Amino acid sequence: MRPKVLVTGGTGYIGSHTILDLLENGCDAVCVDSCINSDTSCLKAIKELTGTEIPFYKADLCDLKATEQVFRDHPDIAGIIHFAALKAVGESVEKPLLYFRNNLESLINILDLSLRYGVKAFIFSSSCTVYGDVTHSPVDENTPWQEAASPYGRTKQIGEQIITDTLRHTDMKSILLRYFNPAGAHPSGKMGESPINPPQNLVPVITETAIGKRKSMTVFGTDYPTRDGSCIRDYIHVCDLAHAHTLALKYIFEGRQDEQTGIFNLGIGNGLTVLEIIEAFQRVTGVSLSYILGDRRPGDVMAIYSDHTKAGRLLGWEPKMTIDDIVSTAWTWEKNRSAAGKS
Ligand code: UD1
Repeated sequence: MRPKVLVTGGTGYIGSHTILDLLENGCDAVCVDSCINSDTSCLKAIKELTGTEIPFYKADLCDLKATEQVFRDHPDIAGIIHFAALKAVGESVEKPLLYFRNNLESLINILDLSLRYGVKAFIFSSSCTVYGDVTHSPVDENTPWQEAASPYGRTKQIGEQIITDTLRHTDMKSILLRYFNPAGAHPSGKMGESPINPPQNLVPVITETAIGKRKSMTVFGTDYPTRDGSCIRDYIHVCDLAHAHTLALKYIFEGRQDEQTGIFNLGIGNGLTVLEIIEAFQRVTGVSLSYILGDRRPGDVMAIYSDHTKAGRLLGWEPKMTIDDIVSTAWTWEKNRSAAGKS
């Protein structure tokens, strides 16, 4: 029997790729999203790619009643993957209460319903941002947390603690997945990042600049003590990331997880600088990019990349895509979006 999985934030960037991966790997999916920063076009792409039309609910998880309707309609939900959250670091600094209210209230509601409706597995979309401004990399899951660099980061730290405390004496198990820098798009060219608000992350900024939606872009800081002066991050392809969620659910469903709450880093395990990403984009696509070398962006960590040995050992997860795959799929997606007249 195919386990039924509720994906919150399922029309978002990582959520939509994860639904596809679940359907391709023996699970059924139900999607809930408020669509405040995404639209439902990915559901059409998912249908084209898999032949499956999945149930979709437009609801804000802060609305407990509306969210409960999903559980009433699907009392056989076996697992939850909880992506739904606000994620703009800069906005979180300006509007911390918006972030605390939205990201934490929604988490509390979905946890409450998961427990009341007997869900067995809960996967949480966390982030390497929980490690804060680390002094050395790679970081593994035991690397102590530093002060969160933003209220967004704080909601991930508190979210992890809420889940750990809540599940301690229950029979629901959870996995906290700490993503490094997700990027790239589905190789079909039918799905990718499609935010309503202008993206701030490096790879979509690069592709938007290359296609002419932005005149130029800025490299935030070239005086860091790194090999070329720009920041180092661990860029992981969204399809590799999505597959880790399916493996995490199966790890719990198959009774292989002993601990109540497991924690896994998801990155490629290798750091690249901003200038190296720009170089990879230009080399792979043959498009030259207009960029300027600018000041540091407040709140940026100099360098962070992962040790993902644990995910390899226990989940059997290995990232397959390279930085060249990331930039080429992101570029195909940008061109397709532009041809379809999407801003
Ligand atoms: C941060 C968080 C990540 C979170 C994400 C949400 C950390 C370490 N990472 O990612 O967990 O999920 O925000 O948005 O806290 N850059 C430029 N020019 C640009 C845009 C970015 O130079 O126009 C540089 C940044 O300075 C950074 C790198 O590119 O060095 C990556 O930036 P970005 O894609 O925004 O991700 P993070 O800030 O690393």
